[in-house]
Amino acid sequence: MANSCWGIFRESTHSPGRESDDTEILRLTGKHLEAKGFHVELKTADALAEAETDRPRFVFLMCERVEVLERLRALEVDGVPHVNSPRAVHNTYRDRMIVVLDEANVPFIQSRIVATTEQPDADAFPVWVKRGDVHNTQEGDVVLARTAAAIHEALRGLAARGIPRAVLQPHVDGDLIKFYGIGAGGGHHHEPPWFRWFYHKDQRLAGHPLDVRQLARLVRRAASALGLEVYGGDAIATASGELVLLDVNAWPSFALYRDEASAAIAAYLVLRFSGGRR
Ligand SMILES: Nc1ncnc2c1ncn2[C@@H]1O[C@H](COP(=O)(O)OP(=O)(O)OP(=O)(O)O)[C@@H](O)[C@H]1O
Ligand SMILES: [Mg+2]
Repeated sequence: MANSCWGIFRESTHSPGRESDDTEILRLTGKHLEAKGFHVELKTADALAEAETDRPRFVFLMCERVEVLERLRALEVDGVPHVNSPRAVHNTYRDRMIVVLDEANVPFIQSRIVATTEQPDADAFPVWVKRGDVHNTQEGDVVLARTAAAIHEALRGLAARGIPRAVLQPHVDGDLIKFYGIGAGGGHHHEPPWFRWFYHKDQRLAGHPLDVRQLARLVRRAASALGLEVYGGDAIATASGELVLLDVNAWPSFALYRDEASAAIAAYLVLRFSGGRR
């Protein structure tokens, strides 16, 4: 069908505690696309494995597993455009993200990639120990360690689960910011990219200086380097006014902005897939 598109849900194992928020943003985006005349088929990542007869005109996706991304990548190479591009989603795997952002000269939290079989020490504590691949999916994936022994224990836990690499980061004090963006790269189709931010609610705000334009610019540069078009993440505003980017994720749940974001994503997808240049 000329106007058919697929929306792919995030794997539920990658949405701990957020299954319904993650499902809702994809569903709502699909509804907006239907209102614009598209025929939308929402699928689980597992359902993709089944033999497909039709080729969609485009795919929008929240899934993250490498095998699924590879399958979609084949479809993309075959000429079906995807948002986010499967390669961009893969770039958000923590160990890849660090390398890609470093290569693009985008400032990111100081990060050290280690093997989970190592017993590293640190110059200062506390230290965050994070699995090297996907974001937090269960207890033990993202741990705050206050001693070298705690780092080793966290690494052992990851190694025992077959996770080969981890990332160590210093703890950064400051006001925790969450952000969401749609349309990286400085605005395709001459539209300004959609950007929202807020202070994470579970914290006592110090009220450190925050340059919102600088935040938006930092986030856009990161998204653009990773190739993301629908994204979110975390940053810290420090006492000195410095912004430290902690994390960038592909297609988050947009929970607080779901209605607005789903309409904005659908509008972006329509522009993006109506033959316009990327
Ligand atoms: N280096 C750091 N300094 C201060 N706080 C941190 C640091 N790293 C992580 N955190 C805290 O831990 C949270 C989760 O870290 P991060 O975003 O890197 O992991 P994640 O896997 O994406 O988890 P989530 O899915 O919960 O966002 C951050 O929102 C922040 O509150
Ligand atoms: Mg995060």
